[in-house]
Amino acid sequence: MVFKLTLATVALAALVGAANYRRVSCPDGINTATNEACCAFFALRDDLQTNLFENECSEDVHESLRLTFHDGVSFSKSGNFSGGGADGSILLFADIETNFSENLGTEDGTDALAPFLTRHLVTAGDLIQFAAAIGLTNCPGAPRLQFLVGRPNATAAAEDGAIPGPADSVDTILARFADAGFTSDEVVRLLASHSIARSDTIVPNHQAVPFDSTPFNFDTQFFLEVLLRGTAVPFNRTEPNISGGEIDSPLAAEGEMRLQSDFALARDSRTACEWQSMVDDQTLMMENFRTSMMKLSNVGQDISKLIDCSELIPEPLPATKPNATFPAGTNSSELQLTCASPFPSLATDPGQATQIPECPDGDLNLADCPS
Ligand SMILES: *[C@@H]1O[C@H](CO)[C@@H](O)[C@H](O)[C@H]1NC(C)=O
Ligand SMILES: *[C@@H]1O[C@H](CO)[C@@H](O)[C@H](O)[C@H]1NC(C)=O
Ligand SMILES: *[C@@H]1O[C@H](CO)[C@@H](O)[C@H](O)[C@H]1NC(C)=O
Ligand SMILES: *[C@@H]1O[C@H](CO)[C@@H](O)[C@H](O)[C@H]1NC(C)=O
Ligand SMILES: *[C@@H]1O[C@H](CO)[C@@H](O)[C@H](O)[C@H]1NC(C)=O
Ligand SMILES: *[C@@H]1O[C@H](CO)[C@@H](O)[C@H](O)[C@H]1NC(C)=O
Ligand SMILES: *[C@@H]1O[C@H](CO)[C@@H](O)[C@H](O)[C@H]1NC(C)=O
Repeated sequence: MVFKLTLATVALAALVGAANYRRVSCPDGINTATNEACCAFFALRDDLQTNLFENECSEDVHESLRLTFHDGVSFSKSGNFSGGGADGSILLFADIETNFSENLGTEDGTDALAPFLTRHLVTAGDLIQFAAAIGLTNCPGAPRLQFLVGRPNATAAAEDGAIPGPADSVDTILARFADAGFTSDEVVRLLASHSIARSDTIVPNHQAVPFDSTPFNFDTQFFLEVLLRGTAVPFNRTEPNISGGEIDSPLAAEGEMRLQSDFALARDSRTACEWQSMVDDQTLMMENFRTSMMKLSNVGQDISKLIDCSELIPEPLPATKPNATFPAGTNSSELQLTCASPFPSLATDPGQATQIPECPDGDLNLADCPS
Protein backbone atom coordinates (compact mmCIF):
# COMPACT_ATOMS: atom_id res chain seq x y z
CA MET A 1 0.00 0.00 0.00
CA VAL A 2 2.65 2.41 1.09
CA PHE A 3 4.83 1.22 -1.76
CA LYS A 4 2.08 1.76 -4.36
CA LEU A 5 1.44 5.24 -3.08
CA THR A 6 5.13 6.08 -3.41
CA LEU A 7 5.20 4.83 -6.98
CA ALA A 8 2.18 6.89 -7.86
CA THR A 9 3.78 9.96 -6.32
CA VAL A 10 6.97 9.40 -8.28
CA ALA A 11 5.05 8.96 -11.51
CA LEU A 12 3.12 12.15 -10.88
CA ALA A 13 6.31 14.05 -10.11
CA ALA A 14 7.83 12.82 -13.37
CA LEU A 15 4.80 14.00 -15.33
CA VAL A 16 4.82 17.43 -13.73
CA GLY A 17 8.55 17.63 -14.38
CA ALA A 18 8.09 16.83 -18.05
CA ALA A 19 5.39 19.46 -18.43
CA ASN A 20 7.56 22.08 -16.80
CA TYR A 21 10.94 21.37 -18.25
CA ARG A 22 10.59 19.80 -21.67
CA ARG A 23 11.06 22.68 -24.09
CA VAL A 24 11.00 22.53 -27.86
CA SER A 25 13.77 24.01 -29.97
CA CYS A 26 12.41 26.66 -32.31
CA PRO A 27 13.16 26.64 -36.05
CA ASP A 28 15.10 29.90 -35.59
CA GLY A 29 17.87 27.81 -34.01
CA ILE A 30 18.11 30.31 -31.14
CA ASN A 31 15.07 30.06 -28.91
CA THR A 32 13.31 27.30 -27.02
CA ALA A 33 9.65 27.41 -25.99
CA THR A 34 7.13 25.41 -23.98
CA ASN A 35 5.18 24.83 -27.20
CA GLU A 36 6.22 25.19 -30.82
CA ALA A 37 3.18 27.43 -31.40
CA CYS A 38 5.05 30.08 -29.40
CA CYS A 39 8.14 30.05 -31.64
CA ALA A 40 6.91 32.50 -34.30
CA PHE A 41 6.47 35.18 -31.66
CA PHE A 42 10.14 35.62 -30.75
CA ALA A 43 10.97 37.25 -34.08
CA LEU A 44 7.66 39.13 -34.07
CA ARG A 45 8.44 40.52 -30.62
CA ASP A 46 11.81 41.87 -31.78
CA ASP A 47 10.30 43.27 -34.97
CA LEU A 48 7.50 45.09 -33.10
CA GLN A 49 9.81 46.52 -30.45
CA THR A 50 12.42 47.69 -32.93
CA ASN A 51 10.32 48.82 -35.86
CA LEU A 52 6.98 49.88 -34.37
CA PHE A 53 7.26 50.76 -30.68
CA GLU A 54 10.96 51.67 -30.65
CA ASN A 55 11.02 50.25 -27.11
CA GLU A 56 8.91 53.15 -25.86
CA CYS A 57 5.44 53.72 -24.45
CA SER A 58 4.67 55.44 -27.72
CA GLU A 59 1.53 56.47 -29.54
CA ASP A 60 1.78 53.14 -31.38
CA VAL A 61 1.39 51.30 -28.07
CA HIS A 62 -1.79 53.22 -27.40
CA GLU A 63 -3.07 52.46 -30.94
CA SER A 64 -2.29 48.75 -30.53
CA LEU A 65 -4.03 48.55 -27.17
CA ARG A 66 -7.02 50.34 -28.66
CA LEU A 67 -7.34 47.62 -31.30
CA THR A 68 -7.82 44.92 -28.63
CA PHE A 69 -10.93 46.77 -27.48
CA HIS A 70 -12.34 47.51 -30.94
CA ASP A 71 -11.74 43.91 -32.03
CA GLY A 72 -12.85 42.15 -28.83
CA VAL A 73 -16.03 44.04 -27.99
CA SER A 74 -17.49 43.33 -31.46
CA PHE A 75 -19.31 40.36 -30.01
CA SER A 76 -22.87 39.83 -28.85
CA LYS A 77 -24.26 37.13 -26.58
CA SER A 78 -27.78 38.13 -27.57
CA GLY A 79 -27.01 37.92 -31.26
CA ASN A 80 -27.72 41.61 -31.82
CA PHE A 81 -24.39 41.97 -33.63
CA SER A 82 -22.65 39.34 -35.71
CA GLY A 83 -18.98 39.99 -34.76
CA GLY A 84 -16.66 37.21 -33.63
CA GLY A 85 -14.90 39.06 -30.79
CA ALA A 86 -11.11 38.86 -30.50
CA ASP A 87 -10.68 37.29 -33.92
CA GLY A 88 -8.59 39.88 -35.77
CA SER A 89 -11.47 40.97 -37.99
CA ILE A 90 -10.60 44.65 -37.51
CA LEU A 91 -7.23 43.96 -39.13
CA LEU A 92 -8.33 41.46 -41.77
CA PHE A 93 -11.35 43.57 -42.74
CA ALA A 94 -9.83 46.95 -41.92
CA ASP A 95 -11.37 48.60 -44.99
CA ILE A 96 -14.82 47.88 -43.60
CA GLU A 97 -14.35 48.08 -39.83
CA THR A 98 -12.13 51.17 -39.53
CA ASN A 99 -14.87 53.04 -41.37
CA PHE A 100 -17.39 52.42 -38.54
CA SER A 101 -17.99 55.72 -36.76
CA GLU A 102 -16.86 54.47 -33.33
CA ASN A 103 -13.68 53.08 -34.90
CA LEU A 104 -12.59 56.49 -36.14
CA GLY A 105 -8.79 56.61 -35.95
CA THR A 106 -8.25 52.86 -35.61
CA GLU A 107 -6.81 52.79 -39.13
CA ASP A 108 -3.62 54.16 -37.53
CA GLY A 109 -3.36 50.88 -35.61
CA THR A 110 -4.37 48.57 -38.44
CA ASP A 111 -2.06 50.35 -40.91
CA ALA A 112 0.79 49.96 -38.42
CA LEU A 113 0.18 46.24 -37.81
CA ALA A 114 -0.59 45.16 -41.39
CA PRO A 115 3.09 44.78 -42.44
CA PHE A 116 3.75 42.53 -39.42
CA LEU A 117 0.95 40.21 -40.53
CA THR A 118 2.68 39.91 -43.90
CA ARG A 119 6.13 39.35 -42.42
CA HIS A 120 5.22 36.77 -39.75
CA LEU A 121 3.29 33.51 -39.79
CA VAL A 122 0.68 34.42 -37.21
CA THR A 123 -3.06 35.08 -37.25
CA ALA A 124 -4.50 38.58 -37.12
CA GLY A 125 -6.24 38.00 -33.78
CA ASP A 126 -3.03 36.75 -32.15
CA LEU A 127 -1.06 39.65 -33.62
CA ILE A 128 -3.41 42.26 -32.17
CA GLN A 129 -3.24 40.77 -28.66
CA PHE A 130 0.50 40.20 -28.82
CA ALA A 131 1.29 43.72 -30.04
CA ALA A 132 -0.70 45.22 -27.16
CA ALA A 133 0.90 42.97 -24.54
CA ILE A 134 4.41 43.67 -25.82
CA GLY A 135 3.86 47.40 -26.30
CA LEU A 136 2.49 47.76 -22.77
CA THR A 137 5.74 46.43 -21.31
CA ASN A 138 7.27 49.78 -22.36
CA CYS A 139 4.81 51.71 -20.18
CA PRO A 140 5.91 52.08 -16.53
CA GLY A 141 3.30 50.57 -14.23
CA ALA A 142 1.60 48.30 -16.77
CA PRO A 143 0.81 44.72 -15.75
CA ARG A 144 2.36 41.74 -17.52
CA LEU A 145 -0.52 40.43 -19.63
CA GLN A 146 -1.38 36.83 -20.31
CA PHE A 147 -0.86 35.88 -23.95
CA LEU A 148 -2.59 32.91 -25.55
CA VAL A 149 -1.99 31.75 -29.14
CA GLY A 150 -4.33 30.14 -31.65
CA ARG A 151 -7.18 32.53 -32.47
CA PRO A 152 -8.24 31.50 -35.99
CA ASN A 153 -8.36 34.24 -38.61
CA ALA A 154 -11.78 35.89 -38.77
CA THR A 155 -13.75 34.92 -41.85
CA ALA A 156 -16.11 37.90 -41.78
CA ALA A 157 -16.09 41.52 -40.71
CA ALA A 158 -17.78 42.54 -37.48
CA GLU A 159 -21.06 44.40 -37.67
CA ASP A 160 -21.27 48.14 -37.20
CA GLY A 161 -22.81 49.43 -33.96
CA ALA A 162 -21.25 47.08 -31.42
CA ILE A 163 -18.62 49.49 -30.10
CA PRO A 164 -19.82 52.00 -27.50
CA GLY A 165 -18.55 55.55 -27.94
CA PRO A 166 -17.54 58.48 -25.74
CA ALA A 167 -20.87 60.26 -26.21
CA ASP A 168 -22.90 57.26 -25.01
CA SER A 169 -24.74 57.19 -21.69
CA VAL A 170 -23.62 54.90 -18.88
CA ASP A 171 -26.78 52.84 -19.47
CA THR A 172 -25.84 52.29 -23.09
CA ILE A 173 -22.20 51.52 -22.34
CA LEU A 174 -22.93 49.04 -19.57
CA ALA A 175 -25.66 47.31 -21.59
CA ARG A 176 -23.43 46.91 -24.63
CA PHE A 177 -20.53 45.59 -22.54
CA ALA A 178 -22.85 43.21 -20.69
CA ASP A 179 -23.98 41.82 -24.03
CA ALA A 180 -20.30 41.29 -24.89
CA GLY A 181 -19.82 39.46 -21.58
CA PHE A 182 -18.45 42.13 -19.23
CA THR A 183 -19.60 43.34 -15.80
CA SER A 184 -19.73 47.01 -14.86
CA ASP A 185 -16.63 46.53 -12.66
CA GLU A 186 -14.77 45.08 -15.63
CA VAL A 187 -15.71 48.06 -17.79
CA VAL A 188 -14.12 50.39 -15.22
CA ARG A 189 -11.05 48.15 -14.86
CA LEU A 190 -10.47 48.10 -18.62
CA LEU A 191 -10.52 51.90 -18.60
CA ALA A 192 -7.10 51.84 -16.94
CA SER A 193 -6.08 51.74 -20.62
CA HIS A 194 -7.02 55.44 -20.80
CA SER A 195 -4.05 56.20 -18.56
CA ILE A 196 -1.92 55.98 -21.73
CA ALA A 197 -4.63 57.18 -24.13
CA ARG A 198 -4.67 60.17 -26.44
CA SER A 199 -7.05 61.42 -29.10
CA ASP A 200 -5.75 62.81 -32.35
CA THR A 201 -9.15 63.25 -33.96
CA ILE A 202 -10.47 66.18 -31.94
CA VAL A 203 -8.11 68.92 -33.08
CA PRO A 204 -7.66 69.87 -36.71
CA ASN A 205 -3.88 69.39 -36.95
CA HIS A 206 -4.03 65.89 -35.51
CA GLN A 207 -2.14 66.87 -32.42
CA ALA A 208 -2.51 63.98 -29.98
CA VAL A 209 -4.25 65.18 -26.81
CA PRO A 210 -3.74 63.01 -23.70
CA PHE A 211 -6.45 61.99 -21.21
CA ASP A 212 -4.27 62.53 -18.15
CA SER A 213 -1.13 64.35 -17.11
CA THR A 214 1.11 61.26 -17.30
CA PRO A 215 0.33 59.85 -20.77
CA PHE A 216 3.46 57.67 -20.91
CA ASN A 217 2.79 55.95 -17.59
CA PHE A 218 0.25 53.25 -16.94
CA ASP A 219 -0.63 54.74 -13.58
CA THR A 220 -3.55 55.69 -11.35
CA GLN A 221 -3.32 59.37 -12.28
CA PHE A 222 -6.09 58.93 -14.84
CA PHE A 223 -8.59 57.68 -12.23
CA LEU A 224 -7.88 60.69 -10.01
CA GLU A 225 -7.92 63.39 -12.69
CA VAL A 226 -11.27 62.30 -14.14
CA LEU A 227 -12.79 62.91 -10.68
CA LEU A 228 -11.71 66.57 -10.67
CA ARG A 229 -14.09 69.34 -11.67
CA GLY A 230 -13.71 70.25 -15.33
CA THR A 231 -13.21 73.86 -16.41
CA ALA A 232 -12.50 74.05 -20.16
CA VAL A 233 -11.50 72.19 -23.30
CA PRO A 234 -7.91 72.29 -24.55
CA PHE A 235 -6.87 74.80 -27.25
CA ASN A 236 -9.90 77.08 -26.59
CA ARG A 237 -11.74 75.26 -29.33
CA THR A 238 -15.20 76.30 -30.44
CA GLU A 239 -15.67 73.85 -33.32
CA PRO A 240 -17.96 70.87 -32.75
CA ASN A 241 -16.32 68.28 -30.51
CA ILE A 242 -16.37 64.53 -31.21
CA SER A 243 -20.16 64.33 -31.50
CA GLY A 244 -20.74 65.18 -27.86
CA GLY A 245 -18.01 62.82 -26.68
CA GLU A 246 -15.81 65.51 -25.17
CA ILE A 247 -16.45 67.39 -21.96
CA ASP A 248 -14.59 69.99 -19.89
CA SER A 249 -11.26 68.88 -18.45
CA PRO A 250 -9.57 70.10 -15.24
CA LEU A 251 -6.22 70.65 -17.01
CA ALA A 252 -7.27 72.09 -20.36
CA ALA A 253 -4.62 74.80 -20.33
CA GLU A 254 -1.99 72.08 -20.01
CA GLY A 255 -3.48 70.26 -23.02
CA GLU A 256 -5.45 67.50 -21.32
CA MET A 257 -8.84 66.40 -22.66
CA ARG A 258 -11.67 64.40 -21.10
CA LEU A 259 -14.20 62.01 -22.59
CA GLN A 260 -17.84 62.39 -21.59
CA SER A 261 -18.02 58.61 -21.03
CA ASP A 262 -15.12 58.65 -18.54
CA PHE A 263 -16.68 61.59 -16.70
CA ALA A 264 -20.05 59.81 -16.45
CA LEU A 265 -18.68 56.40 -15.41
CA ALA A 266 -16.58 58.02 -12.66
CA ARG A 267 -19.75 59.54 -11.16
CA ASP A 268 -22.45 56.93 -11.80
CA SER A 269 -23.71 55.04 -8.73
CA ARG A 270 -23.03 51.68 -10.43
CA THR A 271 -19.38 52.40 -11.20
CA ALA A 272 -18.13 55.26 -9.00
CA CYS A 273 -16.85 53.10 -6.12
CA GLU A 274 -14.98 50.74 -8.43
CA TRP A 275 -13.49 53.81 -10.10
CA GLN A 276 -12.45 55.44 -6.81
CA SER A 277 -10.99 52.19 -5.41
CA MET A 278 -8.02 52.46 -7.75
CA VAL A 279 -6.85 56.05 -7.14
CA ASP A 280 -4.49 55.05 -4.33
CA ASP A 281 -3.70 51.49 -5.33
CA GLN A 282 -1.44 50.95 -8.32
CA THR A 283 -1.15 47.23 -7.56
CA LEU A 284 -4.93 46.82 -7.57
CA MET A 285 -5.25 48.78 -10.82
CA MET A 286 -2.64 46.55 -12.47
CA GLU A 287 -4.22 43.31 -11.28
CA ASN A 288 -7.72 44.50 -12.22
CA PHE A 289 -6.56 45.39 -15.71
CA ARG A 290 -4.61 42.16 -16.14
CA THR A 291 -7.61 39.96 -15.30
CA SER A 292 -10.05 42.02 -17.37
CA MET A 293 -7.69 41.87 -20.35
CA MET A 294 -7.57 38.06 -20.02
CA LYS A 295 -11.26 38.21 -20.78
CA LEU A 296 -11.13 40.89 -23.49
CA SER A 297 -8.30 39.14 -25.35
CA ASN A 298 -10.28 35.91 -25.59
CA VAL A 299 -13.82 37.08 -26.32
CA GLY A 300 -15.48 34.61 -28.68
CA GLN A 301 -12.61 32.11 -28.44
CA ASP A 302 -12.59 28.54 -27.08
CA ILE A 303 -9.80 28.99 -24.52
CA SER A 304 -9.25 25.23 -24.28
CA LYS A 305 -7.95 25.35 -27.86
CA LEU A 306 -5.47 28.16 -27.20
CA ILE A 307 -1.85 27.69 -26.11
CA ASP A 308 -0.30 29.72 -23.33
CA CYS A 309 2.70 31.64 -24.66
CA SER A 310 2.80 34.22 -21.85
CA GLU A 311 6.48 33.36 -21.45
CA LEU A 312 7.05 35.63 -24.48
CA ILE A 313 5.88 38.71 -22.55
CA PRO A 314 8.67 40.40 -20.60
CA GLU A 315 8.15 42.04 -17.22
CA PRO A 316 6.94 45.64 -17.87
CA LEU A 317 8.78 48.66 -16.50
CA PRO A 318 7.91 49.35 -12.86
CA ALA A 319 5.56 52.20 -11.91
CA THR A 320 7.30 55.51 -11.26
CA LYS A 321 5.11 56.41 -8.26
CA PRO A 322 2.89 54.36 -5.93
CA ASN A 323 -0.17 56.61 -5.74
CA ALA A 324 -1.79 59.30 -7.82
CA THR A 325 -1.09 62.90 -6.77
CA PHE A 326 -3.17 66.03 -7.29
CA PRO A 327 -1.61 67.89 -10.21
CA ALA A 328 0.04 71.17 -9.19
CA GLY A 329 -2.63 73.83 -8.80
CA THR A 330 -5.44 71.38 -7.93
CA ASN A 331 -6.52 69.88 -4.61
CA SER A 332 -9.17 67.76 -2.95
CA SER A 333 -11.74 70.57 -2.95
CA GLU A 334 -12.13 69.98 -6.70
CA LEU A 335 -13.12 66.32 -6.34
CA GLN A 336 -16.62 65.42 -7.55
CA LEU A 337 -17.34 62.32 -5.51
CA THR A 338 -20.46 60.17 -5.52
CA CYS A 339 -19.07 57.00 -3.89
CA ALA A 340 -19.82 56.88 -0.16
CA SER A 341 -16.44 55.35 0.79
CA PRO A 342 -13.95 57.80 2.27
CA PHE A 343 -11.58 59.28 -0.29
CA PRO A 344 -7.90 58.58 0.43
CA SER A 345 -5.53 61.37 1.37
CA LEU A 346 -3.27 62.05 -1.60
CA ALA A 347 -0.34 64.44 -1.94
CA THR A 348 -0.33 67.45 -4.29
CA ASP A 349 2.46 67.98 -6.80
CA PRO A 350 4.45 71.08 -5.88
CA GLY A 351 4.80 74.17 -8.03
CA GLN A 352 2.95 75.42 -11.08
CA ALA A 353 0.78 73.26 -13.30
CA THR A 354 3.13 71.63 -15.82
CA GLN A 355 2.68 71.34 -19.54
CA ILE A 356 1.86 67.81 -20.69
CA PRO A 357 4.51 66.73 -23.21
CA GLU A 358 3.51 67.33 -26.82
CA CYS A 359 5.22 66.41 -30.04
CA PRO A 360 5.17 68.37 -33.29
CA ASP A 361 3.70 65.63 -35.49
CA GLY A 362 1.16 64.38 -32.99
CA ASP A 363 3.17 61.20 -32.57
CA LEU A 364 3.69 61.29 -28.84
CA ASN A 365 6.92 59.39 -28.84
CA LEU A 366 9.09 60.07 -25.81
CA ALA A 367 12.29 60.26 -27.80
CA ASP A 368 10.81 62.92 -30.08
CA CYS A 369 9.31 65.00 -27.28
CA PRO A 370 10.90 68.04 -25.70
CA SER A 371 11.93 67.02 -22.20
C1 LIG B 1 -30.80 43.88 -28.77
O1 LIG B 1 -31.41 44.84 -29.62
C2 LIG B 1 -32.73 45.16 -29.26
C3 LIG B 1 -33.32 46.07 -30.35
O2 LIG B 1 -32.47 47.19 -30.51
C4 LIG B 1 -32.77 45.80 -27.89
O3 LIG B 1 -34.06 46.09 -27.52
C5 LIG B 1 -32.14 44.83 -26.89
O4 LIG B 1 -32.04 45.46 -25.62
C6 LIG B 1 -30.76 44.41 -27.35
N1 LIG B 1 -30.26 43.38 -26.46
C7 LIG B 1 -29.14 43.54 -25.77
C8 LIG B 1 -28.77 42.39 -24.88
O5 LIG B 1 -28.44 44.53 -25.83
C1 LIG C 1 -17.58 54.53 -45.14
O1 LIG C 1 -18.81 54.93 -44.55
C2 LIG C 1 -19.51 55.91 -45.29
C3 LIG C 1 -20.76 56.28 -44.55
O2 LIG C 1 -20.61 56.20 -43.18
C4 LIG C 1 -19.84 55.37 -46.66
O3 LIG C 1 -20.45 56.39 -47.41
C5 LIG C 1 -18.58 54.89 -47.35
O4 LIG C 1 -18.91 54.27 -48.55
C6 LIG C 1 -17.83 53.91 -46.48
N1 LIG C 1 -16.59 53.56 -47.11
C7 LIG C 1 -16.19 52.31 -47.25
C8 LIG C 1 -14.85 52.11 -47.87
O5 LIG C 1 -16.85 51.37 -46.86
C1 LIG D 1 -4.25 34.76 -41.40
O1 LIG D 1 -4.38 35.79 -42.34
C2 LIG D 1 -3.15 36.38 -42.70
C3 LIG D 1 -3.45 37.56 -43.61
O2 LIG D 1 -4.19 37.16 -44.69
C4 LIG D 1 -2.26 35.36 -43.35
O3 LIG D 1 -1.02 35.94 -43.64
C5 LIG D 1 -2.06 34.20 -42.38
O4 LIG D 1 -1.31 33.20 -43.01
C6 LIG D 1 -3.39 33.65 -41.96
N1 LIG D 1 -3.16 32.65 -40.95
C7 LIG D 1 -3.79 31.48 -40.97
C8 LIG D 1 -3.42 30.51 -39.92
O5 LIG D 1 -4.63 31.22 -41.82
C1 LIG E 1 -19.66 68.75 -27.02
O1 LIG E 1 -20.87 68.77 -27.76
C2 LIG E 1 -22.01 68.47 -27.01
C3 LIG E 1 -23.20 68.50 -27.94
O2 LIG E 1 -22.94 67.76 -29.07
C4 LIG E 1 -22.20 69.46 -25.89
O3 LIG E 1 -23.31 69.10 -25.09
C5 LIG E 1 -20.95 69.49 -25.03
O4 LIG E 1 -21.07 70.51 -24.08
C6 LIG E 1 -19.75 69.78 -25.90
N1 LIG E 1 -18.54 69.72 -25.09
C7 LIG E 1 -17.71 70.73 -25.02
C8 LIG E 1 -16.53 70.51 -24.11
O5 LIG E 1 -17.85 71.76 -25.64
C1 LIG F 1 -7.10 79.99 -24.01
O1 LIG F 1 -6.38 81.04 -24.59
C2 LIG F 1 -5.74 81.89 -23.63
C3 LIG F 1 -5.16 83.08 -24.34
O2 LIG F 1 -4.67 82.75 -25.57
C4 LIG F 1 -4.68 81.10 -22.89
O3 LIG F 1 -4.04 81.88 -21.92
C5 LIG F 1 -5.38 79.92 -22.21
O4 LIG F 1 -4.40 79.12 -21.57
C6 LIG F 1 -6.17 79.11 -23.20
N1 LIG F 1 -6.96 78.12 -22.47
C7 LIG F 1 -6.96 76.84 -22.81
C8 LIG F 1 -7.84 76.00 -21.97
O5 LIG F 1 -6.30 76.38 -23.72
C1 LIG G 1 -7.64 74.18 -2.57
O1 LIG G 1 -7.13 75.33 -3.23
C2 LIG G 1 -7.91 76.48 -3.06
C3 LIG G 1 -7.34 77.62 -3.89
O2 LIG G 1 -6.28 77.24 -4.67
C4 LIG G 1 -7.91 76.88 -1.60
O3 LIG G 1 -8.72 78.02 -1.41
C5 LIG G 1 -8.47 75.72 -0.80
O4 LIG G 1 -8.37 76.01 0.58
C6 LIG G 1 -7.71 74.45 -1.08
N1 LIG G 1 -8.38 73.35 -0.44
C7 LIG G 1 -7.74 72.40 0.19
C8 LIG G 1 -8.60 71.32 0.80
O5 LIG G 1 -6.54 72.33 0.26
C1 LIG H 1 -0.87 55.04 -1.09
O1 LIG H 1 -2.06 55.45 -0.45
C2 LIG H 1 -2.53 54.57 0.55
C3 LIG H 1 -3.73 55.14 1.29
O2 LIG H 1 -4.59 55.80 0.52
C4 LIG H 1 -1.52 54.31 1.61
O3 LIG H 1 -2.00 53.28 2.45
C5 LIG H 1 -0.21 53.91 1.01
O4 LIG H 1 0.75 53.87 2.02
C6 LIG H 1 0.21 54.91 -0.05
N1 LIG H 1 1.44 54.45 -0.61
C7 LIG H 1 2.53 55.17 -0.57
C8 LIG H 1 3.77 54.50 -1.00
O5 LIG H 1 2.52 56.34 -0.26
